[in-house]
Amino acid sequence: MPTQQHKQSARPTFFLSTPIYYVNARPHLGHTYTTVAADTLARWKRMRGFDVHFLTGTDEHGQKIERSAAKAGKTPQEFAAEVSGEFRSLWDRMGLTYDDYLRTTEDRHKKGVQFLFQELQRRGFIYKGTYSGQYCVSDELYVEGPPGTVCPDCGRVTETVSEENYFFKLSAFERKLLEYYEEHPDFIRPETRRNEVMAFVRGGLRDLSISRTSFNWGIPVPGDPKHVIYVWMDALANYITALGYGSDDPSLLEKFWPADVQLIGKEISRFHCVYWPAFLLAAGLPLPKQIVAHGWLLFEQSKMSKSRGNIVRAETVLDVLGTDALRYFLLREIVFGQDGSFSFDALVQRYNSDLANGYGNLVSRTLTMVAKYFDGWVPEPTVAPLVDLGTIGEIQGFYDALDFSRALERIWDMVAVVDGTITARTPWKLAAQDDKASRAALADVLYSAAEAVRIITALVYPVIPEAAAKVWKQLGLGDITQADLKNLRWGGLQAGTKLGELGPVFPRAEKDAIERMQEMEEKRQASMPANTHEEKQTTPQTAQPSPAIVETATPSKTTDPGSSAVSAAQATTPESQRGSESQPAAMASAPAPQSGKISIEDFAKVELRVAVVRVAERVPKSDRLLRLEVDLGYEQRQIVAGIAEAYAPESLIGRKVVIVANLAPRKLRGLESNGMIVAASVGEKGTPVLAGFLEDVEIGARLK
Ligand code: ME8
Ligand code: MG
Repeated sequence: MPTQQHKQSARPTFFLSTPIYYVNARPHLGHTYTTVAADTLARWKRMRGFDVHFLTGTDEHGQKIERSAAKAGKTPQEFAAEVSGEFRSLWDRMGLTYDDYLRTTEDRHKKGVQFLFQELQRRGFIYKGTYSGQYCVSDELYVEGPPGTVCPDCGRVTETVSEENYFFKLSAFERKLLEYYEEHPDFIRPETRRNEVMAFVRGGLRDLSISRTSFNWGIPVPGDPKHVIYVWMDALANYITALGYGSDDPSLLEKFWPADVQLIGKEISRFHCVYWPAFLLAAGLPLPKQIVAHGWLLFEQSKMSKSRGNIVRAETVLDVLGTDALRYFLLREIVFGQDGSFSFDALVQRYNSDLANGYGNLVSRTLTMVAKYFDGWVPEPTVAPLVDLGTIGEIQGFYDALDFSRALERIWDMVAVVDGTITARTPWKLAAQDDKASRAALADVLYSAAEAVRIITALVYPVIPEAAAKVWKQLGLGDITQADLKNLRWGGLQAGTKLGELGPVFPRAEKDAIERMQEMEEKRQASMPANTHEEKQTTPQTAQPSPAIVETATPSKTTDPGSSAVSAAQATTPESQRGSESQPAAMASAPAPQSGKISIEDFAKVELRVAVVRVAERVPKSDRLLRLEVDLGYEQRQIVAGIAEAYAPESLIGRKVVIVANLAPRKLRGLESNGMIVAASVGEKGTPVLAGFLEDVEIGARLK
């Protein structure tokens, strides 16, 4: 026993955390980003031999959650449990390797927070006073200024509160904090955040109200239960209560505190770099070694956030491309620490170029040749390494510095070098020769390639663990999680190793991957029950039903009986059946005609007219959409039509078509579409065939 324990404590420890996420809305890619980065770092550190403790969880108290629950018609307990469960099951589905998942509604946490409160009281840092001022409920932030002041973080108008509160003597820590920042230049990363925080503290710190009386959903102040503890004090304490702070078992706290890295998004720097260290200093506890604030994931030009409604769910990407594709994209595309944009186009582009054609293709060509030319036995080499230790060390350094994008960039340089070497040495030609020298040269190039694949695979494991585990098996090396990846050096792959069963690692993304993901997101948003999980939705464009199909303007919530005719016309188009689970939302929501027949007046509402196509071109990055400019004689207008798979754009110019001229305009791929082209739907695939005339007809003529 004692030797066991001794051995354990001999391994260096590494404690890292993510923020605990609010449960007022379901997880989106922003939350996934932080948690994936933490998981990558956790895997990296484990791979380097550390005894890792990775903490995440959910932040469940406060007025904001109480209000969201009420809107959803649930108790805060029920509501919080439900949403917390969604976060957790997403992390589980993605195979994230957190060691602890803390919910602030757990007893262990409540006890720890109350203990902290009493400890600060005992040490003389808490007093009672009156707060009257402004408060932002969305950010749970006290804001200075007169009534009507907007929150500096989110821009919402603050609420005026006037309450008797407990205060924390934050002002007493102004100097101590500044000294600490000076003496520990790596405490706050990156530098820009450090500078911001220091400027904020230099501007002067006022005491902080740390209790509220106007609502109940929180942890009661010990001995004064009409007060609940300020939600940020409650939340920040999770990093120590999870380790048993305030309980009678201090073992985890002793082992893992202070934290090595606390990952956060940059918008919560003030809480983590000012309030949190001040609470810790007041409680006599050591400060975390480092707070790393990453940038924002942007979508459609602004921060992806539940309040803006411009969110993408991780599930959409997982369903179409898998976990590794998402992890790789987030860590490769965005420089950690800076803002970066998410788009489906860029995601699929990276997936195909780096994963399918890059790493995946290298693995497959290398191992296929070893299988073919050496019966699946790794051959005996005589050559110099393709990958030097310096490069490996450099990549390791990038991981240690959380510079994920650069680590990946360097690894992919290696992929390119190995690919180039294979191409230059033409193993397939060597294999066609029968002499000994060619055979030896073939052994060399294939050993080198396979060994390079092994090293590359070990180095990418923290980012794309599923794929790396597969390749490790294909290399005949067994379970990667059991492998010693600590000492990576050339020559580790033994000649005579028998490859495992080969199979594709990253199949190329299907052509319609982008559109499928966009449609899934649109549907998901459209099916969101209003006013439950989301605070508000501000982007009608993404909340609309999926773009139907030959066309365009789908009146989404119409009560106009004409809509059934419109829907019928849309049903004639192929795309409505395409690959997705259900009919376009517009069809589902169109009122069913009572008798299945419409009156002549109903039909007259549909304005069908002859038009001639003047301009036709492909819509960039869409396989099925064409942008047309059609001339009605009295006006020219733009229509976006889903006929690109059936008609070459050139073939349409000058052609007369029938359009529905009085559809409400809508946007497809950012292009406004004014009307819809009428087509028959032919064959099983529903190929569109445009309506036309045998006689010559004047443009602008109405069909009736
Ligand atoms: O702030 N880009 O919770 P929260 C990058 N409960 N990261 C993003 C992001 C985006 N667009 N959106 C969210 C809270 N995140 C508090 C934290 S901790 C003691 C209490 C990530 O649900 C990022 O890590 O608003 C950000 O800091 C966090 O989610 C905010 O999650
Ligand atoms: Mg937030």
